[in-house]
Amino acid sequence: MCMEKKLTGKVALITGGSRGIGRAVSIKLASLGAKVVVNFTSNEEAASKTINEIAKAGGQAAPYRFDVSDYQEVNSAVKEIFATHGGLHILVNNAGITKDTLLARMKPEDWARVMAVNLTGVFNCTQSAISGMMKQRWGRIISIGSIIGSIGNAGQANYAATKAGLEGFTKSVAREVASRGITANVIAPGFIETDMTSVLSEEMKAALLKQIPAGRMGTAEDVAEAVCFLASEEAGYITGHVMHVNGGLLCD
Ligand SMILES: NC(=O)c1ccc[n+]([C@@H]2O[C@H](COP(=O)([O-])OP(=O)(O)OC[C@H]3O[C@@H](n4cnc5c(N)ncnc54)[C@H](OP(=O)(O)O)[C@@H]3O)[C@@H](O)[C@H]2O)c1
Repeated sequence: MCMEKKLTGKVALITGGSRGIGRAVSIKLASLGAKVVVNFTSNEEAASKTINEIAKAGGQAAPYRFDVSDYQEVNSAVKEIFATHGGLHILVNNAGITKDTLLARMKPEDWARVMAVNLTGVFNCTQSAISGMMKQRWGRIISIGSIIGSIGNAGQANYAATKAGLEGFTKSVAREVASRGITANVIAPGFIETDMTSVLSEEMKAALLKQIPAGRMGTAEDVAEAVCFLASEEAGYITGHVMHVNGGLLCD
């Protein structure tokens, strides 16, 4: 799928594009010819590594530090991207965090921070980009949800609520902007090997693997391939969809 330079001329913003899934998405989109803006919030070194890898492969990338939960920061960053790069065509809402604990012990601030980054962050970025995309009459909004939004998980009530919320948000936005050539979809990964899942114990991973028909955890590249497809011209009639990338863990 991601072989030809199909995205030449397109500008992509990947939130949390410096590490994990976002890093793989940034590298793949750049390999397809897109100019990528790699957002991060704290780890500048990881962002530089991703940018350097893209540049070495002949791609175009720029880092951009902002916190997706801060409306003003996001809004001015998106305005600057439109002005500097002449547009924003592909928005990948990828930045996400976990603050896991059982509901009985969950502090209001653990609930609020996960909401602010995973759900309000998606509102902030999508709303900031949408009028420019409407003027362009072309856009791809791809938000990274999670299998946990569909099946829940003990210890992740806050995270599950954000990922389920993302689906309703996306389906509504999809209906609002379909006539302007803009699609909005969710990709819901299963368990993917990144820093986020590195906290799982070996026992937990072994128990999980037994439930995954594909017999392995996913890679960030597995998710990036799905993003490339939804970002393509060819996927223009797919909108309001939740695409699962989970090795068969949930067959929906
Ligand atoms: N890994 C999985 O198994 C899995 C499964 C399903 C869904 N997902 C979802 O996939 C997405 C990426 O997960 P991942 O595993 O790749 O995570 P990760 O390795 O922990 O990377 C998270 C990325 O998000 C950035 N970020 C965090 N908070 C931010 C904020 N407030 N503003 C801007 N950027 C921020 C980080 O930047 P810094 O480096 O600067 O902190 C980093 O680039 C998340 O939405 C996650 O919920 C992951």
